[in-house]
Amino acid sequence: MRHQLYINGAFVEPVGGVYLDVIDPACEEVFAQAAAASAADVDAAVAAARHAFDHGPWPRMAAGQRAAVLRHVASAIRQDQQALAQLELRDNGKPLKEALWDVSDAAFCFDFYADMAEQIEAEGEAAVDVGDARFACRVRKEPLGVVGAITPWNFPLLMAAWKVAPALAAGCSVVLKPSELCPLSCGELARYLHAAGLPAGVFNLITGTGPEAGAPLAAHPGVDKLAFTGSQATGSKIMAEAARDIRKVSLELGGKSPFIIFADADLDQAVQWIQFGIFWNQGQVCSATSRVLVQRPLYAALVARLKAAAEAITIGRGDEDSVQMGPLVSAAQHAKVMGAIAAGVQGGARLVTGGERPAHLSRGYFLQPTVFTDVPTDHVLWREEVFGPVVGINAFDDEAEAIALANDSRYGLAGAVMSADLERCDRVARALRAGVVWINCSQPTFTQLPWGGYKASGIGRELGRHGIEAFMEIKQITSFVSDEPWGWYPDKAKPA
Ligand code: NAI
Ligand code: MG
Repeated sequence: MRHQLYINGAFVEPVGGVYLDVIDPACEEVFAQAAAASAADVDAAVAAARHAFDHGPWPRMAAGQRAAVLRHVASAIRQDQQALAQLELRDNGKPLKEALWDVSDAAFCFDFYADMAEQIEAEGEAAVDVGDARFACRVRKEPLGVVGAITPWNFPLLMAAWKVAPALAAGCSVVLKPSELCPLSCGELARYLHAAGLPAGVFNLITGTGPEAGAPLAAHPGVDKLAFTGSQATGSKIMAEAARDIRKVSLELGGKSPFIIFADADLDQAVQWIQFGIFWNQGQVCSATSRVLVQRPLYAALVARLKAAAEAITIGRGDEDSVQMGPLVSAAQHAKVMGAIAAGVQGGARLVTGGERPAHLSRGYFLQPTVFTDVPTDHVLWREEVFGPVVGINAFDDEAEAIALANDSRYGLAGAVMSADLERCDRVARALRAGVVWINCSQPTFTQLPWGGYKASGIGRELGRHGIEAFMEIKQITSFVSDEPWGWYPDKAKPA
């Protein structure tokens, strides 16, 4: 099956006529093809988005009308959830139950931003008293413009929803460039938006590679804002492009998130949350808690329990009911993670379990859940994102040491803490330099809450109210309302 681009309200062939293979990572087979856009397609998509924004009805209509379109999309996603989840499973490898979770979160995201658009419009313009009766002042929010959204493969539909839903709700138009590794569910999203009656040009889908399709979108002067999720290397390039002509940019770049577990924590629950924090989605999660710090009295017992739990995980094709971990997304990602494991072994970290392809799976990009202890804190395994099911566990003695170790990172997306002492949890939560902190859990993510990183983990916030405000400009309107005439060089600029 060949999947086309979606530009200016129509499904179209890429100008160059080139299609990329779409691979099922569980069997390494090509099962579909997706259009490979190039600069000419990007030009057409941005021109359509530009025209829709500058001259079309979408940014100008009442929020309720936009909300109705978004709610249509939410219900179309729900109606199709089984098929969509199967598509996501096949494209990405993730287990069906996880794919279903993603799909329902994506639907919720469209409903949430439909409500949010109406709420923000209902709040209206905010009058501000500037302490000078000669002026009436107010602040209003307006849609930001044309958004170039570039998204990754780990949650293909959901990461697109996090950008497309709030951007459209705000009244922006969008050119979406999903990852070439998992482009298919975004094609379905284009179909839902089309069927929901979105005006032509408001949403455009450009599938293709980073260099051929992503880079021209990032460089395009017709794009007002770039919204990116992915690697730091690519985020840095996108920010550099945006810097040339000063366009807005938001970046969500992952990290090396710490999980601090005190000796008074519940051991069974700690093991459950560690697994959720690093084995969910095969560890291909930007906020994965990949560095675990355990207080020394609990350390040996926790490592033993986690080893047994990791070895009991069922690995296989995501559509088998008992499966808890599927394959990694691609051969390249598998090789990258295997390389990090080899470097860890070489660098003196102790491999407790995992590190290899499961013996019963000879095809597919499968990898055992992998646990290291005694990771040198200057080693790449402790400092850099692996983006796979690989966790490093080190011991600490006291709270101050745990906080210092946790914050000793150039990243700051997330962090977690577990203890029976809730005051201590609060102290640690405040001390962690991260945009997301979990207490007595790791990873649960809610559409209603801001999501984004401190330090090198990114710029800006997605989700929650921040997630839509990120696609709005702020305008002050100041009116001169005095009956007294104004002299160009007033003796008293301010009233007495
Ligand atoms: P990537 O950051 O290169 O890909 C993300 C998106 O950017 C994709 O749509 C890609 O096509 C696009 N892209 C790539 N080069 C571009 C360019 N020059 N200009 C514009 N767009 C471009 O990540 P990739 O290669 O898929 O994975 C590499 C590593 O990145 C992973 O191993 C992982 O460590 C990290 N990563 C982090 C994610 C996160 O959620 N924070 C998600 C995906 C990857
Ligand atoms: Mg794929």
